[in-house]
Amino acid sequence: MTADAGASRPTRVLKVDPSRPEPEIIREAAAVLRRGGLVAFPTETVYGLGANGLDPEAVAGIFRAKGRPADNPLILHVAHADDAARLAASWPPVAQRAAEAFWPGPLTLVVPSRGHVPSVVTAGLPTVAVRIPDHPVALALLREAGVPVAAPSANRSGRPSPTRAEHVWHDLQGRVDLILDAGPVGIGVESTVLDVTTDPPTVLRPGGVAVETLRAVLGDVAVDPYAVHPPGDAHDEEEEEGRPAPRSPGMKYRHYAPSCPVELIVGEPAARRRTLGLRVAHYLEKGQRVGVVVTEEGAGALSGENDRLLVRIVGPAHRPDLYARRLFQYLRELEGAGSDVIIMEGIEPEGIGLAVMNRLRKAAGSRIIEG
Ligand code: TXA
Ligand code: MG
Repeated sequence: MTADAGASRPTRVLKVDPSRPEPEIIREAAAVLRRGGLVAFPTETVYGLGANGLDPEAVAGIFRAKGRPADNPLILHVAHADDAARLAASWPPVAQRAAEAFWPGPLTLVVPSRGHVPSVVTAGLPTVAVRIPDHPVALALLREAGVPVAAPSANRSGRPSPTRAEHVWHDLQGRVDLILDAGPVGIGVESTVLDVTTDPPTVLRPGGVAVETLRAVLGDVAVDPYAVHPPGDAHDEEEEEGRPAPRSPGMKYRHYAPSCPVELIVGEPAARRRTLGLRVAHYLEKGQRVGVVVTEEGAGALSGENDRLLVRIVGPAHRPDLYARRLFQYLRELEGAGSDVIIMEGIEPEGIGLAVMNRLRKAAGSRIIEG
């Protein structure tokens, strides 16, 4: 085996209608899955990289293609709630309520795993993550495949998640068999991961369904501290040392990061925008190419034109949903345009803003500046 065991197969791209997927294309993609191949497909959150979730060899191929650490478990995607319950050793009432309220949709449930789920999927944990995605192409593919489909986000491990087929091609060409191109996805950040084996249920990763929305339907819901402050986001070093291991293995890895350094400015709106303006000026003075991801309000803090300044405006500060939709696309654009550094404005961690802030913190690692 070579060092880069994931590379070396021809990758086909098929365009597919996002709202009414062509049956012959879906049949072809399902056939690739059933014979153990890798198919990237759109969901409502991000593009996923799918394999037959009951075929350990096929699932191992996902880890090779992405360069993903083997201790980070995968989500199994299904078309019907009954199929999800069949993967679980038990299906608590709160899982049923969550499934009825949010599926299909951007919510993943962590439930006790049943014996036939391969350990390569669960990374040896006693639980399994399941979800029904809300995208016509994903649903058609899952129905046609007739097996649970293991699918992480379709990026190379550690990179920003893909919100367009072009992103998948950039990261995974030569490593997967087929990419279904249905254009840009709607939500732009991944699903909320909710562990229903605890009482109250615990959000392990904030995502497309807001914590406030979960609480309105399910009552008490806890939020794992790592979902807010990822490991290494050094808000307090002593606290960092005393922290227990993350309950969701994915939370311990740096993530969502382009190849250049990324800096995140947090704090009250006026203070963070002032600091943002100063940081940008600082890097421009050093002669660097500076990429900036800001709200409409934040863009006002940037002084004048400069051909080394590349600005992407995510929308008004009160629209975290627009920040979510554009974030990964903008990080990839600014990276592609040759930024030496990317500076991002934080927002309030409310609604889907909590998921946006989680991704921004993870992309920045320890480069978080209090404005
Ligand atoms: O929106 C999404 O969830 C996308 C689309 C493709 O469905 N998928 C996705 O998968 O984001 P991935 O692999 O990039 O992230 C899955 C997250 C990881 O943080 C992983 O650690 C966690 O879910 N996870 C999976 N199984 C788990 C389990 N049994 N217990 C705790 N966390 C689990
Ligand atoms: Mg991912």
